[in-house]
Amino acid sequence: MIVAGVMSGTSADGINVALVRVASARRARTRGLLDFELLGHAEYPYPITVRKFILATMNSQRASVADLARLNFLLGELYADAILATQRRFRVKAELVGCHGQTIYHQGDAAAFLGRKLAVTWQTGEGAVIAARVGLPVVSDFRPADMAAGGKGAPLVPYLDFLLYRDPRIGRIVQNIGGIANLTAIPAGASSAQVIAFDTGPGNMVIDAVMERLFRKPYDRDGRVAASGTVLNRVVVDILRQPFFRLRPPKTAGREEFGREFAQKFMRRCGRAASRDVAATTTALTARSIAESVRRLVLKKQGSYREFIVSGGGARNPTLMTMLAVELRPLGLRMHSSDEFGLPSEAKEATAFALLAYETWNRRPSNMPSATGAKRPAVLGKISYA
Ligand SMILES: Nc1ncnc2c1ncn2[C@@H]1O[C@H](COP(=O)(O)OP(=O)(O)O)[C@@H](O)[C@H]1O
Ligand SMILES: [Mg+2]
Repeated sequence: MIVAGVMSGTSADGINVALVRVASARRARTRGLLDFELLGHAEYPYPITVRKFILATMNSQRASVADLARLNFLLGELYADAILATQRRFRVKAELVGCHGQTIYHQGDAAAFLGRKLAVTWQTGEGAVIAARVGLPVVSDFRPADMAAGGKGAPLVPYLDFLLYRDPRIGRIVQNIGGIANLTAIPAGASSAQVIAFDTGPGNMVIDAVMERLFRKPYDRDGRVAASGTVLNRVVVDILRQPFFRLRPPKTAGREEFGREFAQKFMRRCGRAASRDVAATTTALTARSIAESVRRLVLKKQGSYREFIVSGGGARNPTLMTMLAVELRPLGLRMHSSDEFGLPSEAKEATAFALLAYETWNRRPSNMPSATGAKRPAVLGKISYA
């Protein structure tokens, strides 16, 4: 079956579409797991006004209900356009769509609300609109089922990481650096229950916010600004003392933790430092928080993991990658790009949602309780029929 996976992450940079051929594996060794092949991948930036609106909505204490309803339908249209354009470009017709949607709020931990304690999440982008425009069934809204089963609703991509990167002899850590950075650690010869996965903290989110604020740029292209500055070490050390970084997994983060407020506090801590030094420091914060997470929360003994595989937009920032490599070397980890393993770095998350949709279509669970903290496996998502 050919499935179109559609992802738009917390960076709100745009829409990624992956066309994936999926089948249930027949080989005895991998029975129960999926076989898949990426047929094509394309990326569509959101129009500037849409990105601005999404970012404002995610950060706001008050939003208009009418506008939220409109955004839901608008994104449905944009996702449908993106899928149709990708099908034309690769001359491939999908049979099913898996669409993550745009997260506008995520709170993985239960908190009191009107007399109940609730963990909640909201991904928007109307599945019924996509189904009608594209003429295909659509699986959307993946996270609530995991949360209803007691999980944090994230991360879900470890399902793909396990399929791709498990190895009988090599322990691997897979790091995605999107708006938020998250890792999946797969010990050598692990079963899916032994996988560790959690959000390590900010990925590009704070870097982007600093660039917007101090340079009027959406991001630090090729890490050039950060490369020209000097890291304020004391600020990084200070911030890494915050509770989130010390929490044990499972744990998730979003704009609620590392959004505009965090960025403002971060810039205040940098005091009168030159803008380029602030950019260098926020880049170091991402690198250091990843390395610290690996050291404190993953590595039990030196050498139990050998390979460190990076994906996501952050992998395109050479300054960040160099800082990270320097941090990882003493831990005995070698850095690789997801591209080296046959899946282009930027296509990974969209591919994951194609696989998750395929599982849902076949009524099979695809959350990973070891990663999300769910009490049980859950069939994820809701289906809209064309
Ligand atoms: N050439 C580049 N140089 C530096 N940073 C980049 C580059 N390309 C992408 N990025 C960063 O990656 C981010 C998008 O990453 P992505 O993996 O799409 O995140 P998300 O999953 O949150 O949407 C951009 O906002 C930007 O910060
Ligand atoms: Mg993105």
